[in-house]
Amino acid sequence: MVQLKSNADIEAMRPACRVAADTLVMIEAYIKPGITTDRINTLVHEYTLDHGGIPAPLNYRGFPKSVCTSLNHVVCHGIPDKKVLKEGDLINVDVTTIIDGWHGDTSKTFFVGTPKVRAQKLTEVAREALQIGIDVVKPGATLGDIGYAIQTFVEKNRFSVVREYCGHGIGRVFHEDPQVVHFGNPGEGMALKEGMVFTIEPMVNAGKAAVKLLNDGWTVVTRDRSLSAQFEHTLTVRKDGAEILTLPSQG
Ligand code: MF3
Ligand code: CO
Ligand code: CO
Repeated sequence: MVQLKSNADIEAMRPACRVAADTLVMIEAYIKPGITTDRINTLVHEYTLDHGGIPAPLNYRGFPKSVCTSLNHVVCHGIPDKKVLKEGDLINVDVTTIIDGWHGDTSKTFFVGTPKVRAQKLTEVAREALQIGIDVVKPGATLGDIGYAIQTFVEKNRFSVVREYCGHGIGRVFHEDPQVVHFGNPGEGMALKEGMVFTIEPMVNAGKAAVKLLNDGWTVVTRDRSLSAQFEHTLTVRKDGAEILTLPSQG
């Protein structure tokens, strides 16, 4: 069941969404060859606490860290560890912040140094895929319209969209209805309504769409070991379109 948010609820979500977005701005300066994903975890954890937040991933269904760090062929839910970033890597940092019980969820894929042209292209397609999905959002459009717009754009670029993981409603609960899949057909699925709050977060693979869950129970990788990139925003449906909630406080 989809929980519509009141304007007061949306106002209450802003701090969590803003701090999540600001965390990504903060972390960008540290994304350099030589840093470990554990260091990224510590920086995100401390920044979140310093800004009055709680990192939602920590202990969420047993997740052991405060942020997801997904490197190269890792699709999502990578667990920070001793791994050192190296020149040419792609890394997605996925931040979810809780403030006053409300969640804000956003992620970006960063370049470590200068990745190969194909990796850069994949990243740009993932970034644009998110924006193309957001552009579809308005009352009366359907979830299938969003998925269709994203899927057709990605496949036109000869990349593929992950099927097993999706965007989601969000509020006092980290993952709630609806499920926002990143593929589909126009007119199918639930119609959007003012006051819905959900994420769009397409995972785009350079090779085939198939994924595999590693034995740690969290890390999702591409089956063919091809690169994967992802961007995510939390947004709300307004009369005239989407309002992105996970924008940083500066520019
Ligand atoms: N932030 C992820 C999402 O976009 C979920 C991470 S769950 C965790 O939905 F436990 F791995 F943190
Ligand atoms: Co999410
Ligand atoms: Co996320």
